[in-house]
Amino acid sequence: RGKGHGRRDLLGFEPVPASDADEFTVPPGYRTQVIIPWGTPLRPGGPAWKKDGSNTAAEQAEQIGMNHDGMHFFPLGWGRSCRRGLLVLNHEYTDAALLYPDGDAEMTADKVAKALAAHGVSVVEVERKWNGEWKQVRSRFARRVTGTTPVGFSGPVTLDHPALASGNEPMGTLNNCSHGVTPWGTYLACEENWNGYFGTEDPSWGPTPEQARYGVSATGFGYRWHLADPRFDVAVNGNELNRFGWIVEIDPHNPYAKPVKRTALGRFKHEGCTVTESRGRVVAYSGDDQSGDYIYKFVGEGSWRAHRARRRSPLDHGTLYVARFNDDGSGEWLPLVFGEGPLTAANGWQDQADVLLRTREAADALGATPMDRPEWVSVNPKNKDVYCALTNGSGGNAANPRTPNPYGHIIRWAEKNGDNTATTFTWDIFLLSGDPAYDSSVTLDEDSLHGSPDGLHFDRDGRLWIMTDVSNSTQNRADRGHDNIGNNQLLAADPKTGEVRRFLTGPRGCEITGAVITDDGRTMFVNVQHPGEATAVFGEPTPENPRAVSNWPDFDPDGRPRSATVVISRTDGGVIGA
Ligand code: FEO
Ligand code: CA
Ligand code: CA
Ligand code: CA
Repeated sequence: RGKGHGRRDLLGFEPVPASDADEFTVPPGYRTQVIIPWGTPLRPGGPAWKKDGSNTAAEQAEQIGMNHDGMHFFPLGWGRSCRRGLLVLNHEYTDAALLYPDGDAEMTADKVAKALAAHGVSVVEVERKWNGEWKQVRSRFARRVTGTTPVGFSGPVTLDHPALASGNEPMGTLNNCSHGVTPWGTYLACEENWNGYFGTEDPSWGPTPEQARYGVSATGFGYRWHLADPRFDVAVNGNELNRFGWIVEIDPHNPYAKPVKRTALGRFKHEGCTVTESRGRVVAYSGDDQSGDYIYKFVGEGSWRAHRARRRSPLDHGTLYVARFNDDGSGEWLPLVFGEGPLTAANGWQDQADVLLRTREAADALGATPMDRPEWVSVNPKNKDVYCALTNGSGGNAANPRTPNPYGHIIRWAEKNGDNTATTFTWDIFLLSGDPAYDSSVTLDEDSLHGSPDGLHFDRDGRLWIMTDVSNSTQNRADRGHDNIGNNQLLAADPKTGEVRRFLTGPRGCEITGAVITDDGRTMFVNVQHPGEATAVFGEPTPENPRAVSNWPDFDPDGRPRSATVVISRTDGGVIGA
């Protein structure tokens, strides 16, 4: 086993087999520990989790939220310690079957309030003890941001914009999927499938073209919040929609700071927001996770340090671009700027705020390349190449070459001269996911086959960690070519050789997400999201048997499955993956 510094040693662990068992597996020589499952009190003495789902909304607001997703570890203390820090994590959505004692029965105001309290972001302080175990500790930084936390707006779309006028104070963030981290130490929570929370019973309501482009409908995704809370009724409070679809900046080091929606980064279904630096400027990449939607980047104007010195946000000043991937392997970044190209008053565009509120339509007008559901983006620290997971979709162009594409792929590009602010690039396909038994174009083997890559994370040595999210309607199904792939998993890849190796497998019904590694390379935090969710193969949880699919991680005969963070380390204290 190598030390993780030489190219030869990049992947030094024994692969784990694919698994459909209700367990979390890691390679020999690694150990795991579960921390902060859904419902854990945020502070010592806080409300305890009730395993029948009967915690109230007020209790949930003082507990870790549901469905852990994107996550970052911010070191605290001297010398950017790898023994103590803030874990900041998203809670993407809620599952009624597991959140409430009566599951999906009648929607009430109390149930909406509990769901809102289970969404958002958690900030917790964790510390490594002398025996190597990690522990959540009492902290002045502990915080929940939920669907009702007061928020601010900044950038070209401000709160006094008529499109943001609504029947309630500006509050909350919803469907925070992946995330970003700024060079100045803040966390970016990204609003993905926000459209699904809204609906109406009003038969006279129909979506505007802009609302339709974002997938707003009378039924939403079946949450039915609008039946009990007019905030989510599009016929009553349609402008509330315009307050979602943004990047939300949160300062984890200041629990009293209001989260701020940074509108210059555009409004769409932001999967994540991956920030890098080039020539002193900030560059933020973000996928719009919908089949046929696009990849964007924001390039800051001038030095981010100069903006910070003048107490201005570097994320409020810059240009938003959308990607075109040409068939010949070249690519261009097309600016979404009012008055440029087709985005003119003559074509019905009012100003830059209008362009940002209708980002998808602006990108349509520019001729961006439709992609197979863009998920996480990660930048190779060794050469600044950019990788994006395309989880699955319908294909139809050179950058999305399989039609249809049920397994997904990973695309990568090199910005001109290695400068992430550049407006041209060259691209290639890094990896086609899938199973060679069903698709002969796939070159993976039993140690590496997988489907639906979603999360991507480069570590400091240049290993690319790949987290998968095969949907539960497909997972483990032979008739959909997924019987050899097993449960969702985490793999590591060598970006130079293309070698891929499976590192862990998750319990039934879950997705693996949020992987982040401490600066010393010796601790990995990773999230198990939605264990026990309804699956085509294993069934669905019910109020009578919430454990029908999974009972991870408690395996309590009277309990229910819970999303949680897993801490992974090597028994010999070495570098993860090496
Ligand atoms: Fe929330 Fe695109 O995964
Ligand atoms: Ca995702
Ligand atoms: Ca996904
Ligand atoms: Ca998810």
